Amino acid sequence: MSLIPPSDTHPPTAASRREFLRFVAASTVLTPAVRAWAQQLAASHDPAALASAADALQVMDFEAAARLVVPPAHWGYMATGVEDDLTLKANVEAFKRIGLKPRRLVDVSHPDLSVDVFGAKWETPIFVCPVGSQRAFHAQGELATARAARAKRHTMILSSVTTYSVEEVARSLGTPPWYQLYMPLEWNETEKLVKRVEDAGCPVLVWTVDLLAGRNTPTATRGARQDTRNCASCHVNGPGTPIHRPMFDGLDGRYNPPQATWAYVDRLKKLTRMKLLLKGIDSAEDARLAVENGVDGLIVSNHGGRASETLRATIDCLPEVVDAASGRIPVFVDGGFRHGTDIYKALASGARGVGIGRPYIWGLSAFGQEGVERVLDILRAELTLTMAQMGTPSVKEITPARVVHL
Ligand SMILES: Cc1cc2nc3c(=O)[nH]c(=O)nc-3n(C[C@H](O)[C@H](O)[C@H](O)COP(=O)(O)O)c2cc1C
Repeated sequence: MSLIPPSDTHPPTAASRREFLRFVAASTVLTPAVRAWAQQLAASHDPAALASAADALQVMDFEAAARLVVPPAHWGYMATGVEDDLTLKANVEAFKRIGLKPRRLVDVSHPDLSVDVFGAKWETPIFVCPVGSQRAFHAQGELATARAARAKRHTMILSSVTTYSVEEVARSLGTPPWYQLYMPLEWNETEKLVKRVEDAGCPVLVWTVDLLAGRNTPTATRGARQDTRNCASCHVNGPGTPIHRPMFDGLDGRYNPPQATWAYVDRLKKLTRMKLLLKGIDSAEDARLAVENGVDGLIVSNHGGRASETLRATIDCLPEVVDAASGRIPVFVDGGFRHGTDIYKALASGARGVGIGRPYIWGLSAFGQEGVERVLDILRAELTLTMAQMGTPSVKEITPARVVHL
């Protein structure tokens, strides 16, 4: 990889300058101060760039800022859905078809965003979704995310394909994270992985069940094809291959057994004392089966549109899952949440908590820990405002009566 600006023989164009600044700002070898300098310079050249995280007015400001600093292959990995990315788009678009119905003249001077989760009090319903390979976005990767989650007191779910180990992340987070399981192909490897996670003190195991049969991600592949960098230092087995995944050290590294059935829930439950959540449950039928099989909670999710094409938006799946769970286990949701009003709509549909994925990755890419913190701050502030304006100052007052499907 060369430090020479792309166009060194001709006067720099705006595009070449932007490309160079993107390279500097995205570099994992330069100091944070140099990266910050590049960000500021980029901001002076490009209205989409932000000079600092504090300049962001909305979560979506971070998408444009991140785009400037993330190299094409890594951007493709983050931005991709599957096939034509229709599920991904559906998640975001669906919120526009739900209107809010406010109540007036309610004392909203003391907002209370707290929710109860497994006997613990969360200050807000917002949690940090598992996102793999975070060093592709910032040198501090999952550690920066953990520090932000700690600073802002949010629950973090750590991906199985994290680039820092669960033990390291637990130190940065100040407590063991919830752990997302990609189940290894061999059961004896699942046993080893789950034992390691339990020994690290993780209280909750979140088994992702929406990606057990593979996927097709053209947007990611197109991004990789545009990327002319030499990636051999990180991708030691060649571009496109996984980088070091410490949670699979000593294991063969293959995961997501397509033969998995509900019987595996029972096997997992017998294996661990951790609470067991399923991530990727989108129907009433499966929600009922989950309750019958002793699952402790559900995350309505379609992997941010990264698993199957033309699925319904998660916000549209949520009511039937909540209904089927009928209060016996908590139901969480993620997918497409970009505004406080989006989160409000999920709470009105019965979600106990709402997860965010790409938004904090944009913040991480652009500004590291500070960017993640600002994303979390913006969402909390927007939710607080929405609750007050809707005449529902506490979460328990947010009922289905406050939303209308247009
Ligand atoms: C780059 C990227 C990597 C992801 N990695 C994982 C993962 O390792 N495990 C998992 O269960 N979900 C993973 N997800 C899905 C998220 O946990 C979450 O379901 C999704 O991002 C929510 O949608 P949103 O990005 O629109 O907020 C990933 C998502 C993205 C964008």
